[in-house]
Amino acid sequence: MKITFLLNGETVELVEADPTATLLDWLREDRGLTGTKEGCNEGDCGACTVAVSDADGTRALNACILFLPQLHGKAVRTVEGLGGSHPVQQAMVTHHGSQCGFCTPGFVMSMVAGHAEGATDHDTQLAGNLCRCTGYAPIIRAARAVESAPKPDWLATDRAFISPEILRGEAAGRGAEPPSSPTSSDELATLYEAHPDATLVAGATDVGLWVTKQLRDLPKVIFLSGCADLKEIEVTDTHVRLGAMVDMNRMRDAVAPLHPSYGEMIRRYASVQVRNAATVGGNIANGSPIGDNPPALIALGATLHLRKGDTRRDLPLEAFFIDYGKQDRAPGEFVEAVSFPRQPDRLKCYKLSKRFDQDISAVCGCFNITVEGGTVTAARIAFGGMAGIPKRARAVEAALIGQPWTQQVVNAAVPEFEADFTPMSDMRASARYRMETAKAMLRRYFAEDQGHLTNVLEVRA
Ligand SMILES: Cc1cc2nc3c(=O)[nH]c(=O)nc-3n(C[C@H](O)[C@H](O)[C@H](O)COP(=O)(O)OP(=O)(O)OC[C@H]3O[C@@H](n4cnc5c(N)ncnc54)[C@H](O)[C@@H]3O)c2cc1C
Ligand code: FES
Ligand code: FES
Repeated sequence: MKITFLLNGETVELVEADPTATLLDWLREDRGLTGTKEGCNEGDCGACTVAVSDADGTRALNACILFLPQLHGKAVRTVEGLGGSHPVQQAMVTHHGSQCGFCTPGFVMSMVAGHAEGATDHDTQLAGNLCRCTGYAPIIRAARAVESAPKPDWLATDRAFISPEILRGEAAGRGAEPPSSPTSSDELATLYEAHPDATLVAGATDVGLWVTKQLRDLPKVIFLSGCADLKEIEVTDTHVRLGAMVDMNRMRDAVAPLHPSYGEMIRRYASVQVRNAATVGGNIANGSPIGDNPPALIALGATLHLRKGDTRRDLPLEAFFIDYGKQDRAPGEFVEAVSFPRQPDRLKCYKLSKRFDQDISAVCGCFNITVEGGTVTAARIAFGGMAGIPKRARAVEAALIGQPWTQQVVNAAVPEFEADFTPMSDMRASARYRMETAKAMLRRYFAEDQGHLTNVLEVRA
């Protein structure tokens, strides 16, 4: 398939590109650009971070789980493309932000993307970059020091780059056979119906690992990154609709003002680099029992919008998850969008993970309980990490609905978690830990609702 993008200011055309070659391998092995490092090769360490620009702005992305076709029409900048003169590089020297230097190009490129976008929350911007020797304080000082430094000249050129094929209305490898990159959901629907055995690639934060870690061959792939209409976000008086290709950072910007606790949970979803790639559709379609979005969306009463060819169907999101590894999705059918009703904010999302940042949930509990005149009139409680699928706590909900919203009723509802869930023990948490923390989350929701501080940091302050 033919792919065109800008690399450090130079147009690159790849005619017979392997669709599942990663940008990292290509940079290092084909172009000899070894400034971009390989640490984990699974999106965790940030050593491979590059800055990718288009008309929407500049984003840090992990090159190790980025397939070349995802770059079509965009501009890639690696540490070599900074020419040693970016203010971030000087600040790293001045503030002693580097020791062995292995992580440094990755940090620099995350900082370059943050600088381009005017980032001031450097903890968040750099949470996806790991350093084993310097310690983070000098690096954060360097990032702060350049907040108001002038933007580099190349930035405007990178953002203005649009490949000639895109201007002519052609996408990378657009055609009737995978590998292919359809440019709309209509094209995708036709192509996928004809090739239901193809692997859909959205942000590749799961699929990328199938290639880099499981060494899987993916003979037929369809890239969704060119489907502009799947990236739409609609917020009306009645509902919020998120297209399947909305990435986690854009999704967070849309939902955080409406449901701040959901927004805060998504801030802890992986890292900036992963959130810039990972999509809402991928996070649902992968059927993971520990994905962060499904419990929050189920608690909000979300509807999933599926499409196969010209046929569309809607179902409550919780009904999509049938069993571990089994979803209600026919061959050739794809996730088009997810939507949820506008409602007063009663949602609290509690994500428990071994590490605060950049870690997948051990338990994720989302609570949306409506109280009117002191009585619980509705309750939607959903969990990740408590079963083989994201699942509602229906017995707990039933124990609350129609009852007065009191500590006594909450205490009486807590044992119902045992009826709802039989969690398992794994490397993230034991079954007992999962059960006890799920129960504690309901108590916490009640305590916070009554105005008590439950966060240790808030209590100390
Ligand atoms: C370092 C790291 C940290 C992570 N941390 C978290 C975390 O904190 N929380 C969390 O929930 N997840 C986390 N993940 C997992 C991952 O980011 C998510 O599962 C992600 O949302 C997948 O979306 P994607 O767009 O990258 O999907 P892809 O990898 O492109 O695809 C995933 C699956 O969904 C299918 N698919 C994609 N889009 C569609 C569609 N529209 N219709 C039908 N099928 C589709 C694909 O065929 C594939 O089977 C992490 C991953 C990494 C690498
Ligand atoms: S090599 Fe670690 S994130 Fe890419
Ligand atoms: S400077 Fe050595 S790993 Fe960061």
